[in-house]
Amino acid sequence: MMFITTLLAALLATFALATPAVPLPCSAISGTPCICPEGTELSESSTVENFGASASDVGHLLNDFSNPAWTGNDPLTLEGPNNVPILSLRERNLSTLVGNYLFKERLTFWYESPFDGSFEQRFEQKGFVPYHSGNGSFGGLWTTLKGDRIFENQTLVQTIVYACQTGHPMNFAAYYGNALTNATNILRAAGLINGVSTGAESVQLF
Ligand SMILES: *[C@@H]1O[C@H](CO)[C@@H](O)[C@H](O)[C@H]1NC(C)=O
Ligand SMILES: *[C@@H]1O[C@H](CO)[C@@H](O)[C@H](O)[C@H]1NC(C)=O
Ligand SMILES: *[C@@H]1O[C@H](CO)[C@@H](O)[C@H](O)[C@H]1NC(C)=O
Ligand SMILES: *[C@@H]1O[C@H](CO)[C@@H](O)[C@H](O)[C@H]1NC(C)=O
Repeated sequence: MMFITTLLAALLATFALATPAVPLPCSAISGTPCICPEGTELSESSTVENFGASASDVGHLLNDFSNPAWTGNDPLTLEGPNNVPILSLRERNLSTLVGNYLFKERLTFWYESPFDGSFEQRFEQKGFVPYHSGNGSFGGLWTTLKGDRIFENQTLVQTIVYACQTGHPMNFAAYYGNALTNATNILRAAGLINGVSTGAESVQLF
């Protein structure tokens, strides 16, 4: 069952990274560009950083859906078992340019390689969260967080985000730049940096 779920998710994942021939409504499997709900616009953002640590050490810190403390945003609530796609839910209070909001996030994919420690998780925020001002809303946010073993003590971490929001009230590049720098510092303090770490670099298309 777990294997089939993983296989299916992997197929969907492959599909999601391809450019769709016809834009689909934005979803966990739509890929981009995709069609946002009325009143919201698409944001695309990706951040990468080389970690001078083993993929399993990086994954141990980053690939735990219930504990994203390295981002500076602890969940307020958790539901379901941990790290189980579809069943794992968390609620976080995130700061945006239009105020602070509670977002419910659902894990949609989770993987950890038993061979080399490479990892990937995907989660989504779905449905409308209206802005406090009444003028606009959050209408979906899809995040992929992955780490690939490059060499023994080198792991390439990437975040890939697309979202439907009125205006662009979230600076994903700044958010994940800070979070990945924080993660590097946490690993360094634990004595787990034994390779070369670079700063974070982002592309943000909006
Ligand atoms: C960095 O990570 C620590 C430990 O997980 C967390 O307590 C802190 O809030 C984070 N800081 C920032 C700026 O994200
Ligand atoms: C979310 O964070 C903001 C800013 O720290 C705070 O004012 C607000 O009370 C928090 N909301 C909840 C439900 O914790
Ligand atoms: C409502 O939001 C739109 C899009 O962000 C903006 O252009 C407009 O000025 C805003 N209107 C008011 C009354 O705040
Ligand atoms: C990776 O780090 C470990 C732990 O410090 C060290 O023993 C090993 O030699 C390192 N490997 C490489 C290729 O640098």
